[in-house]
Amino acid sequence: MLTNNDLATWLETDDQWIRSRTGVVERRISAPERATSDLAVEAGAQALESAGTADVDVVVLATTTPDRPCPATAPEVAAALGLGTVPAFDLAAVCSGFLYALSVAAGYIESGRAHTVLVIAADTFSTILDRDDRATMSVFGDGAGAVLLRAGFSNEPGAVGHVDLGSDGSLRDLITVPAGGSRQRGLGVAAAEDDMYFRMEGRTVFMHAVERMTSSAQSVLARGGLTVADIDRFVGHQANIRILRAVALQLGLDVDRVVVNLDQVGNTAAASIPLALRDGHARGEIRAGERVLLSAFGGGATWGSTILIWPELPPQQGEAAVTKSDRGDSNGI
Ligand code: UT7
Repeated sequence: MLTNNDLATWLETDDQWIRSRTGVVERRISAPERATSDLAVEAGAQALESAGTADVDVVVLATTTPDRPCPATAPEVAAALGLGTVPAFDLAAVCSGFLYALSVAAGYIESGRAHTVLVIAADTFSTILDRDDRATMSVFGDGAGAVLLRAGFSNEPGAVGHVDLGSDGSLRDLITVPAGGSRQRGLGVAAAEDDMYFRMEGRTVFMHAVERMTSSAQSVLARGGLTVADIDRFVGHQANIRILRAVALQLGLDVDRVVVNLDQVGNTAAASIPLALRDGHARGEIRAGERVLLSAFGGGATWGSTILIWPELPPQQGEAAVTKSDRGDSNGI
């Protein structure tokens, strides 16, 4: 665990600034020998155990911090989980990665190409952060979450509804690791040390996050013929408590319905929403039959939202929920 006071030992910051500007109190940092795949395997195993099955047709891993630039990390994760030779691939949508992966998984099921899809969202942002950048060090942490989606019916508890997704590539520089890819390598010039690290224009990102999460949430509400009064819980990307409150305010949603765990884990990028679902369930804040609105914004820029009905789960099994989409089921944390 890394607390705000720990950060203040080498950064010009303090607990009060971080708490009041972000809501974060502490975050988890992966041990040096544990890469993203190690966290992903752990989360995937917990989801399979909770769902009581190892019958998986496809593995989708949402991550921006793969173990290596090549190959993808998902095949290694699938192998470590003992899932044989199933299709397994990475999906990069930064902090919207879980919702993008959920949409892909639902598509597999709805089209009849798969019956069960394991969606894992895992990131170790500590490996790409600049230790001297107080703005990003204050908010990000490492984490992983997973859900098992399986075929079912749209009116069942656990059903995942329409997933609204969007992107705006003109905003690519707002959240970026400038070097290490073909844009820099193609020039044949060594990367500047600074360009190897994650950079974020926080204030501008904040503004876009509130705008896009709100409009995307409104879009899935309209698509489902619902109003905000039909929403029991709002689980938004845990980037900043002020973003979550601003989105709730713009939606007209009671702030008491907002699930928050960023105080304990910070912004865990792709893993943020599944971890918040897990913690909200474990704390008894998300109960069976409740309608849960999910919304995220991330680098790219990318964004997305969906609405699901929370399924019946044993209280101690917050690790793995099960949801479904139209012809298929989606999810599981
Ligand atoms: O996950 C993908 C989506 N990400 C987000 O949605 C993140 C959105 N952005 C944010 O959450 C906020 O912009 C941050 C938490 C990253 C930064 O907070 P802010 O209130 O927007 O601060 P700022 O970047 O506008 O900076 C204001 C001041 C600056 O000082 P000067 O230049 O005015 O002297 C920063 O250097 O606050 C300073 N600052 C800090 N001071 C103490 C930034 N971070 C810190 C810090 N401690 N940890």
